[in-house]
Amino acid sequence: MSDKFQFPEGFVWGTATAAHQVEGNNVNSDFWVMEHLPETIFVEPSGDAIDQYHRYADDIGMIADLGFNSYRFSVEWARIEPERGRFSAAAINHYRRVLETCKAHGLQTMVTMHHFTSPRWLIEDGGWLNIASAEKFANYCAFVIQELGDLIDSVCTINEVNIPRMVALLWAGGEPQEGMPDFMSFANTASAAFGVEMQAFAPFFFAGSPEARDVMLAAHRQAVIAMKAVKPTLPIGVTVAMQDMQALPGGERKRDELRYEIQDVYFEATKGDDFFGVQTYSRDRIDANGAAGPEEGVELTQMGYEFWPEALGATIRYAAEKTGLPIFVTENGIGTADDTRRQAYYERALACVADCLRDGLDVRGYYAWSAFDNFEWLLGYRPTFGLIAVDRATQVRTVKPSGKWLGTVASSNQL
Ligand code: GCO
Repeated sequence: MSDKFQFPEGFVWGTATAAHQVEGNNVNSDFWVMEHLPETIFVEPSGDAIDQYHRYADDIGMIADLGFNSYRFSVEWARIEPERGRFSAAAINHYRRVLETCKAHGLQTMVTMHHFTSPRWLIEDGGWLNIASAEKFANYCAFVIQELGDLIDSVCTINEVNIPRMVALLWAGGEPQEGMPDFMSFANTASAAFGVEMQAFAPFFFAGSPEARDVMLAAHRQAVIAMKAVKPTLPIGVTVAMQDMQALPGGERKRDELRYEIQDVYFEATKGDDFFGVQTYSRDRIDANGAAGPEEGVELTQMGYEFWPEALGATIRYAAEKTGLPIFVTENGIGTADDTRRQAYYERALACVADCLRDGLDVRGYYAWSAFDNFEWLLGYRPTFGLIAVDRATQVRTVKPSGKWLGTVASSNQL
């Protein structure tokens, strides 16, 4: 008898990526524009990324060889609809080959329709502050399912639909990165680049107002309806950035207020969904004034937040209770240069998943962020979240020990 925990039969073990972070040369996207502004807040542009657009076959093979049974990736709206109303057959054919490669390797496919990036034309049209964007998003999603739905096992509509509010309420007003302009001067140049007024500057990530939230939630709901009309059996959910929001003494009220705006409001919008995607990296300590920052003495990750794998157990429980939906952990992981800390993080986070399952919670799967070191948005290529390292000069991939280890957990279905 081993004392290992046996995960339920059919438990989904995957790794996750996002198109813009791995594909490279996403030239019709809003991020590409913003990365190349003279006054940008991105430390470097995404460039070729890890060239997964061309190297997908080898990459997918590596994920399968490690022992995973699923791949979560995003299809890029800016490629599929590079100009408003103009859909690219070539882009659809590309993603068909990607999906077929997953299937050939026995990987289930979880496809994210929107992972932070939008077509640049959408931002020119008022982006995530324009309610008309909800219908445009739904149309694009329906088109993808019509063309590729036969190869897609499940869909996440919008990745971290709450992150813009979280950024606005928890992180706004922070110091700019060293040598970078402040947000207002960036937004000034960026809005001009899209030909919109400052008040109408609304790329997803920077659209942190309640009005933009309502557009995003409308987009989610309309997309669900539109995709179900094409493929009624398709499991669909949304994913939410779920830091464990812990109240410090005296901070209970503030925590509850913030958590309502950052998490609870979104749970209410999941009625009618098939699952809920939990994405957790750390905890946030809240005092009476708001975010209190890391605790003295607690190890930090490359992201500057705490090494706190136990946040996953708390957030799975919270989301399961509030939504009543089956849970997928759609992202969990750590940016670190020390791969032994990555394995330690995964060991502790997965022990929390095992505890949730023991307690009877309906957790269906776990996706590690990320399969590969990749483009970490404003921070560029410095943070390394990958189970697989990438030398970007040569694009050579090297499996890290943590990747080997996690792949063995996945293939044995045991911890
Ligand atoms: C995010 C995103 C990922 C990040 C990851 C690490 O959800 O923030 O889904 O794109 O790379 O979270 O910070």
